[in-house]
Amino acid sequence: MHKTIKKIGVMTSGGDSPGMNAAIRSVVRTCAYHNIECFGIYKGYEGLIDGDFIPLDARSVRGIINKGGTFLKSARSKRFRTKEGRKAAHDQLLKNNIDSLVLIGGDGTFTGGLVFNQEYGFPVMGIPGTIDNDINGTDRTLGYDTALNTAVEAIDKIRDTAHSHDRLFFVEVMGRDVGHIALNAGVGAGAEEILIPEEDMGIDRLVESLERSKKSGKSSSIVIVAEGDKIGKSVFELKDYVDENLDEYDVRVSVLGHMQRGGSPTCYDRVLASRMGVKAVESLIEGKSNFMVGTIHDKMELCPLEKAIKGHSKINKELIRVSDIMTT
Ligand code: F6P
Repeated sequence: MHKTIKKIGVMTSGGDSPGMNAAIRSVVRTCAYHNIECFGIYKGYEGLIDGDFIPLDARSVRGIINKGGTFLKSARSKRFRTKEGRKAAHDQLLKNNIDSLVLIGGDGTFTGGLVFNQEYGFPVMGIPGTIDNDINGTDRTLGYDTALNTAVEAIDKIRDTAHSHDRLFFVEVMGRDVGHIALNAGVGAGAEEILIPEEDMGIDRLVESLERSKKSGKSSSIVIVAEGDKIGKSVFELKDYVDENLDEYDVRVSVLGHMQRGGSPTCYDRVLASRMGVKAVESLIEGKSNFMVGTIHDKMELCPLEKAIKGHSKINKELIRVSDIMTT
């Protein structure tokens, strides 16, 4: 392995996700292992523009592998979308002798990194950190497994009270553009219906399905709704619609919201974060840039950033069928 870099900057950007701290820890320790200096950048691209940096050594990241959130904090930066913002960020990097960046975040973060690389030729390496699992070039994003387990645990609890009162619950989970959380948490928690952004079930079919459920002897039901589901109605509008059209149901709504983004990462996410951090730093050392680290069939792979941000990862259609069969 030939060393071409001396100082790496690491940041977390966009929506936080469990496992980001574990990924920072891995980046810092891999740098220490290879005798490379490492600087943390606070608040993503905002901190990059402002020069809000902190030197990090192997010991400064102790005790964080199990912590949710990101100690470097995160932000969605409007300033970095401007040429002036990116110029200021580049000046800060030069001033601090940082010669490459590890970007932990989602598609917005990677889009920023790509533009920055195109303008300044600055070496960047991405680590996919988002609970949505919506990035191409990796089977899993950091935090997705934790968010999924958090959602299932919450839905299980809602199921208890739904059952006690013979109620129908609409449960909203995160996922603006993709239905990975909704679909997997829905199957995992045995939901009666799952509404996702990728498929338009149609409100009439939903009502018919709920009627069928009732007739088949089900006393309570859970419908999982992804934030961006295709029917285009919020969980509250869905409740109103069912209230008006199905007398037999006593309907309640629960929005899981940002609780899905917090909490201690699962072992899977901690291990994934550790592997991704090593791969990201060692790829930069090998002189690679403009890639995202991913895991494909449990092997660490690199995916060009351009490809990673193109469209969204596809949902597993087989799971839709499994869900249909399970709700017979
Ligand atoms: O991208 C992750 C995500 O949690 C989405 O699922 C959700 O739509 C969005 O972030 C919420 O963003 P914010 O925290 O800025 O409201």
